[in-house]
Formats: sequence, structure tokens, C-alpha cells
Amino acid sequence: MMDNMTKQEIMRWLQCPAGSELDTLQARADKTRHEHVGDAVHLRGLVELSNICSRNCLYCGIRRDNHAVQRYRITLEEIMDCAFKAVEYGFGTLVLQGGEDAGLTAAFIGEVIRRIKTETELAVTLSLGERDPAEWKMWREAGADRYLLRFETSNRALFDRIHPPREGHASTSRIAMLKTLQDIGYETGSGVMIGIPGQRYSDLAEDIQLFADLQLDMIGVGPYIPHPQTPMGNWKDGGMGDEQVPNSLAMGLRVVALARLVCPGANIPSTTALATLDGKAGREMGLCWGANVIMPNLTPLKYRRLYEIYPSKAASTETPEQSRDAALKQIEFLGRSPGRGRGDSLYHLQYKTTSKRKEG
Ligand code: 5AD
Repeated sequence: MMDNMTKQEIMRWLQCPAGSELDTLQARADKTRHEHVGDAVHLRGLVELSNICSRNCLYCGIRRDNHAVQRYRITLEEIMDCAFKAVEYGFGTLVLQGGEDAGLTAAFIGEVIRRIKTETELAVTLSLGERDPAEWKMWREAGADRYLLRFETSNRALFDRIHPPREGHASTSRIAMLKTLQDIGYETGSGVMIGIPGQRYSDLAEDIQLFADLQLDMIGVGPYIPHPQTPMGNWKDGGMGDEQVPNSLAMGLRVVALARLVCPGANIPSTTALATLDGKAGREMGLCWGANVIMPNLTPLKYRRLYEIYPSKAASTETPEQSRDAALKQIEFLGRSPGRGRGDSLYHLQYKTTSKRKEG
């Protein structure tokens, strides 16, 4: 069940002054979270597989043309070490994320998925960017459960401005790709960056409506954080005046809350970008504004600082064990409990029993 909210209503929440009205939004989101997905906070172990990327997104620190980055690709054995660590720590899911690296071949990822699936009971989430649908299919058949692909902004002109297409290709629609992923049978996640230069409140309101239209199982959002070694990191502003969305923690929290209200049963992480803007407090606040997932970083420490999609990324010097301990402490502090089991999407479980998504 999705809650319909008009664009005007969403814009009002995005723009109302801080104070009692905004407190109502937080309280509603927190209550909706409690009623629909409960008090469990699911832990997903994140592994950053490769910072090699063939794409040149204008905001991203690991874009192809950032020659200041030392590039790496993880080995199969290192990934398996992360998987066993996830099991040992009681996590239900392993998230495999990486740049669009041709060296992460379909066969390699297929083998990784098969090994994780035979040697553990973990759910596997992939976050490997825009790949060939034949590869997505093969990975699904190998046992992958979920796929994350943010659409970043529903404003097509803005999307095209900051995402140069693959060489020799026309620009692509991530919305269409998300539908393909759903058809292949993945639990599907998406999301946006908040405060992209040139992003208006009305764009962001449409993004939030699109979360509901797409019937997403997972929604990840975070403020845009300028990276000085990128073209966009040096843009002064988007020329939008009052209409420009700020890239603040406060705006990030409003969007988390609204995502919860329009998709009450979705799994919503309190993201690293939220945590980056206000130390650890950002992550705790995310959990109080509608989020029900944390993704502790299990990437081997020697690679961690190299996966710098934006500067000062939270936990870039923390060991996997410290990341887990910090997450468990925050969960306990908030009076919530660590999730047990895989933490599948309620929506997806529903589609499985009715074997189809709601029409419309
Ligand atoms: N600031 C915030 N988020 C970023 N991402 C990439 N670069 C940045 C940045 N500079 C986000 C994108 C991408 C996800 C993996 O990280 O939304 O989908």
C-alpha cells in the first residue's frame, strides 16, 4: 500500500520552516516506520568491489577522468572474507557495490554470487551501475536477490547534464532500467541525491512521487557532497535562487521522512552521506526520521579510502568490526533492535505470492 501525496503537499513539507510543523513530519514518518516495518534495524554489510569506472559522472570522485585516484579491484577471496565476516556479525545481507568496471566481468560476479549463495545464507544485493540486461539476468539466475540503481534525479535535463552517456551510446533512462530489473525479478532499490546544483524543490517533489510510482522495495537518499576533484565540485551554484534545494542534512532528513510516507513498507537506509554531514549523529537522526536500515562498511581497510565518491566519507578509517560496533550501539541507544534474518522487502514478498506488481 502506497500513500498518495500530492506534489503540492510534498513541496510544502520540503519548504516549511523548522519548528512544530516539521516536528509533525518527523513524528508521522517515525510512526509509519514503526507500524509498517517495526523497530528492527536491518544491517547490510557493504563491500566496495572496485573504484575503476568507465563513466564520467560530473559529481563522482571515482569518475574516469579523476587521475588522482589510485585504482583497485578486490579479489574473490577478499569478498568471501567479507561474506564470512557478515555472517559472523549476524548481518542478513551482503551488498556488492562498485564502479562500472569491465574487469568486474559477468562471469566473475556470477562466481562471487554462487559462492556466497552456496557457502552462506546471506541475501545478496548488487549495486554495479548500468550493465547489460543479459548480465543482470545471469546474476539473478546465479542467485542475486536485489539490485540498487539510483535514478539520481527525475529531471531528465538535469540528469543528462551531470551524466555523460557511455561512449558511442545515446543517453539512457534509469527509470526504464529499473523496470527491467523488476521484470527480471530483483527486489529493486533506487534513490536520489539531494541538493544537486540546479535541482529545484519541484524536481525533488517529483522524485519522491516517482518512488511511489515505481513501487520501490528500497530507497536510498543522501545529500550531494561536492568533491573538489570533480567538475561539479567546483560549481558555485545552479542559478536557481530560492528554488534551489540545499544539500544539507536537514533536507536529507525531510526526504527520508517523505520517502517513508509515500512507501510505508520500503526498506530505507540511513545512508553514509547523511552520516558524513554530521558525524555519527546524522545516521542516528536518519533512523528517527523513517529509516530502518544501516549499511556498515566491510570493505578491507586498505581499499576503503580509495572508494572516495565524495570527500570525508564517514567510516573511511573504521575497521569492519568498529563499523559493526558503532551500528549496534546506535541501535541500542535508540531503543531499537538489530534485525534478524534477511530483512526482505514486504512489497516483494507480496508480489511473490500474487506473482505480480500492482498495476498502474
Ligand atoms: N555526493 C553524494 N552522493 C554521491 N554519490 C556519488 N557521488 C556523490 C557525491 N559527490 C552517490 C550517488 C550514487 C551513489 C553510489 O553515491 O547517488 O548512486
